[in-house]
Amino acid sequence: MAEPVIEVRDLVRKFGHRTVLNGITFTVEKGDTMIIMGGSGCGKSTLLRHIIGSLRPTSGSIKIFGRETATMTPDEMDKLRQRFGMNFQFGALLQSLTVGQNVALPLMENSNVDAGIIDLVVKMKLELVGLTGFENLKPAEISGGMRKRVGLARAVALDPELLFSDEPTSGLDPIMTAVIDQLTLDLTRKLDMTAVVVTHDMTSAFRIGTKMIMLGAGKRAGTIIAFGTPDEVRNHPDPEVQQFIKGEPDGPVPLKLAPEDYIESLLGRERSKGVNY
Ligand SMILES: Nc1ncnc2c1ncn2[C@@H]1O[C@H](COP(=O)(O)OP(=O)(O)O)[C@@H](O)[C@H]1O
Ligand SMILES: [Mg+2]
Repeated sequence: MAEPVIEVRDLVRKFGHRTVLNGITFTVEKGDTMIIMGGSGCGKSTLLRHIIGSLRPTSGSIKIFGRETATMTPDEMDKLRQRFGMNFQFGALLQSLTVGQNVALPLMENSNVDAGIIDLVVKMKLELVGLTGFENLKPAEISGGMRKRVGLARAVALDPELLFSDEPTSGLDPIMTAVIDQLTLDLTRKLDMTAVVVTHDMTSAFRIGTKMIMLGAGKRAGTIIAFGTPDEVRNHPDPEVQQFIKGEPDGPVPLKLAPEDYIESLLGRERSKGVNY
């Protein structure tokens, strides 16, 4: 079998005394779309940031295209990152630039391509995400779903071999989520990319993933509690996994308070101060 595109082994990351990643081991094969899922704050973004080399492991190994990145110099890492496309939750678009200029950014930073070629590539990428004719608008002049699509176009501007996305559909309605998912599928299939996508949206996860890992909570925080194909994860015997993929509020991960109880407790506090509702 060919060498994996990404190989993470015994990855441990501590922030102070807190161990956020605790012995993470998995591989991503060429052509896979690996989903990283799990509850809010379980370490998904932290794991992704280690893979792209913006955070260094406390211990463990991360190999990309067969090369160890945990010990790479910043220059070597930058060079490797030219083969990545990154579509990040907080890597927002630059508001002062147009849509077209935002998509052109990685091209201007990473290659000595002339302006005519850049224009052409920007047009092609915007067409790929269904935004032909929007290049001269500013991010503030288009919808949230369109901004997410621009982010995706920018991430694939250099035809990366590896695409990383952190919550590409968060805050979008189900229809726009389906549009972004379809785009991700098109891009990964048409351009033959390998992708790692962080999401807590289970519909999205099962729509685009070819492999999945789920990070645990509570006693199993920082560890992988499920790994496999979408079918394997869907049929996973672990009750915490089932609770998460079915979105059930009751289960091994207890909600401290149901939302109504929470509101009631807030109202109660106000009432005790003599405020009436
Ligand atoms: N740079 C950091 N310094 C300290 N704690 C951090 C840092 N980055 C993340 N964390 C902590 O690690 C945990 C996991 O965060 P994160 O990876 O963002 O979760 P997720 O993306 O799954 O919601 C959180 O408790 C967060 O506060
Ligand atoms: Mg996150």
